[in-house]
Amino acid sequence: ARHLLGIEHLAPDEITDVLDLAEDYVGLNRSGTKHSDALAGLTQVNMFFEASTRTQASFELAGKRLGADVMSMAMQASSVKKGETLIDTALTLNAMHPDILVVRHPQSGAVDLLAEKVNCAVLNAGDGRHEHPTQALLDALTIRRARGRLHRLSIAICGDIAHSRVARSNIMLLGKMENRVRLIGPPTLMPAGIGEFGVEVFDDMREGLAGVDVVMMLRLQKERMDGGFIPSEREFYHRYGLDAEKLSHAKDDAIVMHPGPMNRGVEIDGTIADDINRSVIQEQVEMGVALRMAAMDLLMRVRRAGPREVAI
Ligand code: CP
Repeated sequence: ARHLLGIEHLAPDEITDVLDLAEDYVGLNRSGTKHSDALAGLTQVNMFFEASTRTQASFELAGKRLGADVMSMAMQASSVKKGETLIDTALTLNAMHPDILVVRHPQSGAVDLLAEKVNCAVLNAGDGRHEHPTQALLDALTIRRARGRLHRLSIAICGDIAHSRVARSNIMLLGKMENRVRLIGPPTLMPAGIGEFGVEVFDDMREGLAGVDVVMMLRLQKERMDGGFIPSEREFYHRYGLDAEKLSHAKDDAIVMHPGPMNRGVEIDGTIADDINRSVIQEQVEMGVALRMAAMDLLMRVRRAGPREVAI
């Protein structure tokens, strides 16, 4: 592919290729060097129309460590504020000959639409409740490193599934790699028709967590609740917040994940999040830089070599 728009479009061997290259970049990032020239001479533009800490910072660091010229647009201060559309903004930047556009947008499908209009590679940094492919890939890398494999694992994704692009991308990726995915949350936060994705659905944390290898917690994404039902945080924590007692139902060595941003005391107890024996939340952030380096490197190899020679 010439873009990275969603996990939906990736085959299992392409997922493995990205993770394998990301392993090399984990090593580089931990070395004194931290830099390569894989993207030297190339231009990367980051366009974030929605708030971000991890994704924006890691894409920026990833591009810089690979030698690209990186520009992060301050979208709040751009001509979008004067009514310019997403597509006109993208066409304007496209005329400046970037090689890579990294885009986050609150509307599902906006990044796919934009990719049709520009000449450069587009990476989806999260679009509405649709997909967040680099998050699912960095989660997969974290799981593979912690558990030693990325197949035949039992993985629970917990909380607000309905509004989560992270859950959607992870469900697809983990399914493609032949894992068992359990979704745990209140029926009001479970998307309609989710059973078609080959997942098991639970509304009780203790039942759903029984014997799992991985526990992935999600934030209540109130910004996407569109005036619908918003659960009380106290009630939500009581029933679905991850605490030591609920976690005791998972395997003894189960890892705890969270894509961030995290709301302590709502979906997760702070002491669980900080427990270095169980939580891999900081490893997820570290993997995010390496994974984004690998994704951009591979996309540029595809563009140089033609789609038949290098897979992503
Ligand atoms: N996980 C994630 O996408 O975090 P940010 O919103 O901070 O980028």
